[in-house]
Amino acid sequence: MSVEVLGIAASPRRKGNTETLLDWALEAAAEAGAQVVKFRLRELEINPCIACDGCFDDGACIVEDDMEKLYPHLKGADSIILAAPIFSMGLAAQAKAMVDRCQPFWAVKYVLRRSLIPPGRPERMGAFLSCAGTRYKTVFDGARQVVRYFWHVLEVQPAGEILCPGVDAKGEINDYPSAREVARDIGRRLAVSR
Ligand SMILES: Cc1cc2nc3c(=O)[nH]c(=O)nc-3n(C[C@H](O)[C@H](O)[C@H](O)COP(=O)(O)O)c2cc1C
Repeated sequence: MSVEVLGIAASPRRKGNTETLLDWALEAAAEAGAQVVKFRLRELEINPCIACDGCFDDGACIVEDDMEKLYPHLKGADSIILAAPIFSMGLAAQAKAMVDRCQPFWAVKYVLRRSLIPPGRPERMGAFLSCAGTRYKTVFDGARQVVRYFWHVLEVQPAGEILCPGVDAKGEINDYPSAREVARDIGRRLAVSR
């Protein structure tokens, strides 16, 4: 059976820099035989977590919106690629809202004390792709910390990262040295069955 690679484009910008990185990676994953599933968060209704603790009862979110489409893939995909720009020194709000809405997975593990992923399942892998307009040396730090948490909650092993500073205007990623090749390499690696 082929590997499912889930791609999440978090930028509100159409054909933006981070979605371009994602598309390069997904294209290579598909060429390598993976079944690629892509979501653009800007096309989904994803509301913020309301901290109702409803998921503490049964591990399910009571908020009815498009997270219902994402949850099965977040739990079931073999590999996950999150592409999100830096906004205000952190992860863009669209991505952060999705990460916060993964609280049901946290509740399953740490409140209900159940395992999220069936025992014996091959290791899941994740990659984070990002761009920032500036070259400020800590510009990716906040986002990286949130993404590390995201992988931990989803029981995904971090297996790749592309962080492109100084990429601001739409399309500028096309001039970033080797970005396409590095993205394609990540896509190929995440498509390998384990
Ligand atoms: C609301 C907003 C906030 C931003 N904040 C930062 C920032 O704090 N630091 C930075 O280096 N770039 C910042 N940027 C620039 C983006 O990170 C940059 O344009 C990036 O290439 C956007 O990626 P995208 O095309 O995938 O959306 C910001 C852009 C916007 C629209």
